[in-house]
Amino acid sequence: MDHRVAIYPGSFDPLTNGHLDLIERGSSIFEHLLVGVLRNPEKDPLFSLSERCEMLVEMTSRYKNVSVEAFDGLLADYARHKKARVILRGIRAISDYEYELQMALMNRKLDPKLETVFMMPAEKYSYLSSRLIKEIFRLGGSVRGLVPKIVEQRLHEKVGQPNPQIAQPNSRVRKKK
Ligand code: PNS
Repeated sequence: MDHRVAIYPGSFDPLTNGHLDLIERGSSIFEHLLVGVLRNPEKDPLFSLSERCEMLVEMTSRYKNVSVEAFDGLLADYARHKKARVILRGIRAISDYEYELQMALMNRKLDPKLETVFMMPAEKYSYLSSRLIKEIFRLGGSVRGLVPKIVEQRLHEKVGQPNPQIAQPNSRVRKKK
């Protein structure tokens, strides 16, 4: 076990600027930060595992102490396998706390040597989530400045350019006379 190695696990479906903010913060504290991308077929991700990893690799290449890897199964087993002692997680609002506390304590139960360290992203990303990004994009809203350019481009390729004119809530239906 090495306390200088931290794992930052997640689904990253897709990567947001909030995730990148946390990666930058984590990389400045830990000697090595391993971004663990969960293979989560049951969550039916929008982006495949390799697409999520590709985007992360591209966006983290400037950090020499950050690497990206896919993982399967229990996070606690993966951390043990990687000889990492720390799990890094981001907390945005107090609403994240309950779920994160539950996971941190469960991971500690599975491996008492494993510590979870929480960090806060910049306030400007505190309302950001991958789920909201997908929803906003699908409904024709702008995600500019919330995700890296490469993610925006991949969203266009995957989802297409939604037409915000369709199903306008205020569009009037002309009645036949
Ligand atoms: O980005 P997410 O979806 O919030 O990340 C959740 C993640 C990947 C950290 C969590 O689902 C996880 O650790 N999954 C691996 C399986 C596991 O260990 N489950 C028990 C957690 S206590």
